Amino acid sequence: MPKREPQKARECWMRIDIISAVPQLLGSVLGASILQRAQDAGAVEIAVHNLHDYGVGQYRQIDDEPFGGGAGMILKCEPIFTCIEKLQAERSYDDIIFLTPDGERFSQSIANELSLKRNIILLAGHYKGIDQRVRDMLVTREISIGDYVLTGGELPALVLVDAIVRLLPGAMSDAESALSDSFQSELLDAPHYTRPAEFRGVAVPEELQSGNHKRIQAWREQQALEKTRLRRPDLLQG
Ligand code: ADE
Repeated sequence: MPKREPQKARECWMRIDIISAVPQLLGSVLGASILQRAQDAGAVEIAVHNLHDYGVGQYRQIDDEPFGGGAGMILKCEPIFTCIEKLQAERSYDDIIFLTPDGERFSQSIANELSLKRNIILLAGHYKGIDQRVRDMLVTREISIGDYVLTGGELPALVLVDAIVRLLPGAMSDAESALSDSFQSELLDAPHYTRPAEFRGVAVPEELQSGNHKRIQAWREQQALEKTRLRRPDLLQG
């Protein structure tokens, strides 16, 4: 038998590094379904870094009391600088993003924009806050996933990863394609149905069962428009 050439590692479309003090929160989401498949397919490489590995002193301290007093602990500069500078020594980053409720509001257009980047770092805050010098000296962009406060930036980081990765070439099959999503156009998505054609007396709209492609398309467009008018009229203005 001829010897098989070792497979060359496929060049990834994008690399995402996530820095967190609670990396256990990330594993199950990154290791399942489309996110895992996208990594297996080489569409994205995702690396998680535990901030505790970069802690200061004998006890690997990552946080400290706030100058000026007040409740809660603040993430220290040194562990974050050490971790990010180590990453920057290996590759250059297009963006270092801090997840915070006072950042710019995440949207589909930001996901689209980030999906075109080569390397990004997502920094998840925890505890009461983070030393402002990290934000001033390292962070290039601050993003919030909505007007509510979570216990940390891990869930927001996962929201960004999910929204970005599904846009990468090779991450999803045609059937899962992102093209007809709500928000990818200005319209919300039309309703979907599957078998049976009638369930507890409620039938699937006749148009969808007609087999007439033009009629189906027209019905979907009309439904999408109607839903958008009712639920998100703001999307239709401007
Ligand atoms: N950290 C805590 N709450 C957050 C939010 N809403 N968005 C981003 N990061 C956060």
